[in-house]
Parts: sequence; C-alpha cells; structure tokens
Amino acid sequence: MLRNICRIFNFAKPEIRLKTASLTKLDHRRYIKPASLLALCKRSSVTLLAMPEQKSGRDMDLSTPPAGVRGMTQLDRDAFRKTISVPAIKVKKEVINKLMKSLKNVALQRPGIKRVVEDPDDENHRLVLLDPFTISTASCFGESENAAMKQLEVNTEIHTYDLELAYENFKSEEVLRAVLPEGQDVTYGFSRVGHIAHMNLREHQLPFKSLIGQVIIDKNSSITSVVNKTNIIDTTYRNFQMEVLAGEDNMATKVRENNVTYEFDFSKVYWNSRLSTEHERIVSLLEPGDTVFDVFAGVGPFAIPAARKSCLVFANDLNPESYKWLQHNCKLNKVDKKIHVFNLDGRDFILGAVKEQLTERLHKASTQKKNTVHIVMNLPALAIEFLDAFKNLLENQPSGDSSLPFVHCYGFSKHDNPAQDIQERAEGFLGKSLEGHCTVHLVRNVAPNKEMMCISFQVPAEVLYRNHSEEQDNPEEPAPKRQKCDGPDSP
Ligand SMILES: C[S@@+](CC[C@H](N)C(=O)[O-])C[C@H]1O[C@@H](n2cnc3c(N)ncnc32)[C@H](O)[C@@H]1O
Repeated sequence: MLRNICRIFNFAKPEIRLKTASLTKLDHRRYIKPASLLALCKRSSVTLLAMPEQKSGRDMDLSTPPAGVRGMTQLDRDAFRKTISVPAIKVKKEVINKLMKSLKNVALQRPGIKRVVEDPDDENHRLVLLDPFTISTASCFGESENAAMKQLEVNTEIHTYDLELAYENFKSEEVLRAVLPEGQDVTYGFSRVGHIAHMNLREHQLPFKSLIGQVIIDKNSSITSVVNKTNIIDTTYRNFQMEVLAGEDNMATKVRENNVTYEFDFSKVYWNSRLSTEHERIVSLLEPGDTVFDVFAGVGPFAIPAARKSCLVFANDLNPESYKWLQHNCKLNKVDKKIHVFNLDGRDFILGAVKEQLTERLHKASTQKKNTVHIVMNLPALAIEFLDAFKNLLENQPSGDSSLPFVHCYGFSKHDNPAQDIQERAEGFLGKSLEGHCTVHLVRNVAPNKEMMCISFQVPAEVLYRNHSEEQDNPEEPAPKRQKCDGPDSP
C-alpha cells in the first residue's frame, strides 16, 4: 500500500505517516487512481502529511500514448512515439539472470520492450528497467527484492533511463482509449471466425471504424480481416450483412470447433462460435447408430460431429450457400457417405425425409434393434413454429412407442420465465401438453433480457399418429403462440 502511495505521488516512504495499518489487505500491485486513493485514505484513517516536490514534469506514463493522437481517424503509427523516463538499476552482467526472478514484481513490463538493456557507460554492467508506477525511489523495494539485491551485491541506487515508446508498445485498448473521444466507451469486443474478427460497433465508434479495424489486425497476429455488422441479421438465412473495416476482403474462412474443421464463406452463411458448447452438448447425447435429422443444419456443426460418432445423419438447409458448404464440409471431414444432405424448406424436409425414415423404421421387423432418432431444430427465431409439422406425421401408420423421435428445438425468449415460455409455445404448436415430459436448457444470453433456450422432448404418440378427425374433436388443445422477439444478435 505504502508503495502505491509513493508511486502515485512520487515521493519516498518516510514522507507519509500512517495512523492505522488497515489497508494491508490491498494488493500492492494494484493501480489506484489518485481520487480513489484520497477517498480510501479518508475511509481508512490514513493521513497524507506532506506533498513532496514533483520530479520536474517527467512523463512516466507507460500506458498512455501522446495526447496528440486524440480524434485521429486514419491510423498514423508515428504519432504514437514518445520518450518516457523510467527508473533503472545498474547490475553486473554475471548476476542478471539470478536477479531477474526476484525482481519480477518491479521490473518493467511492456509489449515489445526489453527489461534489460546495455549500460552506455559501462560494458560490464546492464541496466534493469523498473516499473515507474512501482519504484520511484530505492525505498520502494520490498523485503524480498532488497534481500536478493543484497545477496548479489547489487547497488540499489536508482538511475533514470530514457525509454522510447512506439505504437508497437501500446496495447490495443490503450491505443483506442487514447484515440476515441474522452469519456466515451471504447469497448470493442469481437468474435473470431477463422482469420476474421467480427465486430458489432456502436454509433459513436463508427467515425473510427477503419482505425479500429487496423488496430485489431496489428495487435492480433492471426487476424487478417475485420468486419462490422451493418444491419440486423438477414431474416431468411440468418447471415449478417457486413462491411470490411480493414484487411483483406476475403470471407472464405476455416474454423475448428470441437476438433472438426469447417470451411465456409462467412458473408453468405450462418456461423456463431458461441454455439460450440451447445453443439458439443447435443452431440454428447447421441449414441453410435442413432439417426439424426438436422432440420436447419447450416454448414454442419451438429451433423458432421454426429456422423463422426457413427450416427446416420440427414442434414438440411434452405440456403443454397449453406447447402454447398455443408456438402464441402462432409467431404472435408470424410463423412460424406454417412450424411444425406438436402436443400429444402424445413417443413418440407420434415414432411419428406423425416416422415419417410420414421415410416420405414415402423415397418422394420419388430425384433430388429431400433436406435434412437434425434431431430435437431436450431433456428431459434422460428423453429418452434415448425413443430406443428409433426402433427399427424405418421397418421394411419401402425403406432409403436420405440419409434418416437426426440426433438431438440431452439427458441428465443424475452419472458421472465423463459423455460415456461418456450414450453408453452412448443405445446401450442404441437397441440399437446409436454408437462413432465420435456427438459428446457438455457443455451446462452443473447442480449439483455433475451435468452436462447433449447426444449427437448419425445414427440408424443398422440401428436404423430393422431388423425384429423380426432383433432377436430378436441377443442381444448393449446393454441399456438407466435414468437415476438427477434433482434440484432439473433442467430
Ligand atoms: C441459426 S442457423 C443454425 C445453423 C447450424 N445448425 C448451427 O448451429 O450453427 C439456422 C439455419 O437455418 C437455415 N434456414 C433458415 N430458414 C430455413 C428454413 N425455412 N428451412 C430450412 N433452413 C432454414 C439458415 O440458412 C441457417 O443456416
């Protein structure tokens, strides 16, 4: 604590008198703003008795680029150059390696900056650069540092070293904080899709969009293209309109998810790296030999791992580009013999391939082992509305419980009780209560007050086998409730 006070006000320990020692629990490495420090001192009965003389206007701020970069919209890397004074100690060449371990808490740490430099006046010595926020005088060293220096006969006298800082030595958030208007939020999270950084910039960041893009490329070695969503998600194929902010205009990319490789054109298909855990969760429910229908398959993140687990897979997507990349990924992952791919509307897929396969299973000899059927429906903005396609799907077929498929259907909810909301909406489209016969899983929080949920249930026999005349006789079944929410981050 005392060291922090020294460093902020740039004076030596004896100039401070502590009335109580109630601050000892504070991490001595934490940076404390002067205003917070004063408040803290007040709360903790610390009295600062004297303001020392400031060491004449030296810039010791390692993390703030020069003030002149504020408002820059085209990146000028040279404008980030500045010289700062940092403390240093002189150490004999032979003991440097032994000493550095003991100085790890006080040595300078900056991207691309060496902590040990030549001593221009003495070739037998080196200068060890120290963190100016931690060490301003020799009295700021801690016990263990003093002990190590004493043992190695190192002189603790503090020298001053003029350190040249450049654009490369600032972190991306430091660059952006210095450039964007003061007081505005500079958070700039992105999701990585192969070589592409995918951003969702806010209004006040737009004038700086190409600079932000360039900084992200400069500071992240594997990113060569930065894009920003320019409108909300396209309503049909769930892909985004996007603008290239910096780097190459090449959206054909390659990603690895759960040990499977996918290739696709990110500007034409749906991909969301945040769904990898959910893909893995569903695949973990499958047993080799199961049959999987993926109604809204995208480029294959459920279908391909399922086929690799020796399931028989039927995968469908309405977007011709998704269909094309799905086929490509099946070949890429050598599962093209195990996956049947379709380019249909989801309802036609259910009424066609799903119905055909389920019917075929019903006619198999009853002694033959029948594995589980899973139907995955990941189109959260709409999938629940496709559930009525299961009504009467197998009407007039010999009924048998062993063939009842498990559905995993996704939906968004802005409701206070999203699980109940999803269940009620699913029941509405199935025309049958699922009470006690379903589980609802929270997949992820998509936006404030908007959850992505997955409801899993075995399609009730009454839904699959019921015929139209029975349906008309039952006026009490729940009425379908359509989803009202769809927003910018909707998959
Ligand atoms: C949210 S994405 C999910 C993709 C993939 N299952 C995943 O988890 O990443 C939904 C997919 O449904 C497709 N789609 C949208 N409407 C459809 C429809 N009516 N029938 C079939 N596929 C549709 C889109 O092209 C998109 O690939």
